[in-house]
Amino acid sequence: MKGYRLMAGLFMFVGFCMMVSMPGFCLAAEEVRTVVVATDATWPPMEMVNTNKDIVGYDIDFMNAVAKEAGFKAVFKNTAWDGIFSGLAGGKYDAIISSVTITKERKEKYDLSEPYFNAGQILVVPKTLEGVTTLADMKGKKVGAQIATTGAIEIKKAKGVELKNYDEIGLAFEDMAVGRISGVVCDTPVAANYALQKAEYKVKFKIVGEPFTNEFYGIVVKKGNKDLLDLINKGISAVLKKGIDKQLEEKWLR
Ligand code: ARG
Repeated sequence: MKGYRLMAGLFMFVGFCMMVSMPGFCLAAEEVRTVVVATDATWPPMEMVNTNKDIVGYDIDFMNAVAKEAGFKAVFKNTAWDGIFSGLAGGKYDAIISSVTITKERKEKYDLSEPYFNAGQILVVPKTLEGVTTLADMKGKKVGAQIATTGAIEIKKAKGVELKNYDEIGLAFEDMAVGRISGVVCDTPVAANYALQKAEYKVKFKIVGEPFTNEFYGIVVKKGNKDLLDLINKGISAVLKKGIDKQLEEKWLR
C-alpha cells in the first residue's frame, strides 16, 4: 500500500514537471482569445447580412484573416452605425471593423490600426440627371448620405448643396429611386454595388466621375488598448504581406 502511494506521488510529480517544462503543450489546450468586433452590416459589399442572415463581406473575411494570422478569434456583433463609436468607448465590444475611414478627428478619440483599404467618396445620381460632373454641380439639390459618415461631411462642405442624413445608405438609395433626393454620396465600393450591380438600381443610377476624396479604412479599438491594437496590426501586416487582400478584392469587388 505504501509503495503504491509512493508510485502515484512520483507519477504526479513527473506529470507536473512535464507541464512546467512544456508550456507550449499546456497552452495548446487553453482557449484562444476572443475579440468581439462591431460592424454595421448595411454597407455592401464591405459588410452586409446575406439571405441566411449571416454577416458577410470583405471586412468580415479580412478581420477573420487578421485574427487567424495574429492568433485570436473574432466574433461579430451587428451594430447600428449611429452609436457604433460610443459603444466601443462604453466597452460593449473590443473593436470595430466597418469601413471606418481613418480621420484626424477619430484618431483623437480612438486608436486606429494601420490602413488596410483605400476607398474615397463618390457621387451617384439618377441616369436622367444631366450636366453633373462634381458634387458642386448639385447646388440647390438634396443629396443623401449615411449619418456622420465622411460622405455626409463632404456634402455639408459643398456650398448650397442640401444634406439629407439617413440611418442606412440603402434608405438613401430608395429615396433617390423615388425622386425624393437627387444624389447619394458614399464610399466607392458601396456606390459601385448599388449603381452597377443591384438589378433594380443599375438601370436607374449612374456614378459621376472618379472618387473625389482619398480615404483609408482602419480597424478601431478603444483609446489606449495598445495590446489589442498591436495584435491587430500584426495580423494586418501578415495578411497584406500574403496578398490575402488581393484575393478578397477578387471575391467581393469584381
Ligand atoms: N467610410 C465612411 C466613414 O468612415 C463610411 C463608413 C460606413 N460604414 C458602415 N458600415 N456603414 O465615415
